[in-house]
Amino acid sequence: MTMRNQLEDLKARALEEVQKAPSAANLEEIRVQFLGKKGLLTQLLRGLKDVPEAQRPELGNMANALKEAFNAAWVERVHDLEHQELQQRLALEWIDVTLPGRRPHEGGLHPLSRALAEIIEIFLQMGFPSMSGPEVETDWHNFGALNIPADHPAREMHDTFYLSPGSDGGQRVLRTHTSPVQIRAMESHKPPLRIIAPGKVYRCDSDLTHTPMFHQVEGFMVDRDCHFGQLLGLLETFLRRFFERRLPVRFRPSFFPFTEPSTEVDMGCLFCEGSGCRVCKGTGWIEVLGAGLIHPNVLGNVGIDKEIFSGFAFGIGVERLAMLKYGIGDLRTLYENDVRFLSQHTKGKEV
Ligand code: FA5
Ligand code: MG
Repeated sequence: MTMRNQLEDLKARALEEVQKAPSAANLEEIRVQFLGKKGLLTQLLRGLKDVPEAQRPELGNMANALKEAFNAAWVERVHDLEHQELQQRLALEWIDVTLPGRRPHEGGLHPLSRALAEIIEIFLQMGFPSMSGPEVETDWHNFGALNIPADHPAREMHDTFYLSPGSDGGQRVLRTHTSPVQIRAMESHKPPLRIIAPGKVYRCDSDLTHTPMFHQVEGFMVDRDCHFGQLLGLLETFLRRFFERRLPVRFRPSFFPFTEPSTEVDMGCLFCEGSGCRVCKGTGWIEVLGAGLIHPNVLGNVGIDKEIFSGFAFGIGVERLAMLKYGIGDLRTLYENDVRFLSQHTKGKEV
């Protein structure tokens, strides 16, 4: 076979192989095989020295044309392969953009968090900033300073969780109410004072209207001429704002060692509308808070002159307000974390 024929033959084979190459890696192998330093073209051109000199320019041109044709076919094949690969991926990774998307699960505030935030906001608007105190309290702050000495029968009013004594040997308790924050506030600030203290409190107690951990919002004011009328007016205003309407409210004379006179505030039971049911234990009323004028002994315990200053205080049961506002017939469901129950009370009310 003449060298001319051999070149033509090589060109035809090379172009055919390029067109059939199944992958980019394979294309590279073909380039080395035909045009590499030790490739078939180089081997063929070694024979040039045996060809008559007159034929050599033509054969040289043919070799160049072969390289050019090879390169052009090679580039085209690379593009073809890329296109094919893209088509395959598009076919495989197909997404139906018309399907509805997956919505993220919408959370919401727990009804208690909402109630607490609303209570705090209403009192802030009435000039009562918020302060917090410890949940593990000394016996003195939880009882003694509030005019409840160790052997006093009023201790029985609270089913207290007692803790082992602190490093100073003093008795410690899980606070049974937020009233100790009154003492802490009056110890660290001079009157006139206006403060609320929201937080968790603990009692060994559980039924439809009692949980062992619950929330209170303490509130109190100490000034030169605080009186009972202000306290009643403030509580009525607060309840009307919180419930956004006027509901049946009654002030019932009561007893707390740290207030005198004292009252407890009941709201008409909305579950039976006053006729008596399981939730209100047949009374038609649900107690929501305790209040009164701060006892002179308490002012004396924190070094406030009771001849100059007087004060009132109140302790609101947050769960009770939440159950009345949101229609929750069993307080304990607030703590069972049942999402079906919670979502009924959070829908559309995200903050
Ligand atoms: C007190 O705790 C007093 N410290 C309130 C007070 C403060 C009176 C300042 C005077 C001056 P009482 O034990 O009644 O009071 O509790 C207050 C409110 O907490 C109750 O009216 C009720 O709404 C709520 N409460 C009491 N026990 C529970 C409980 N186990 N679960 C849920 N709420 C409760
Ligand atoms: Mg009570």
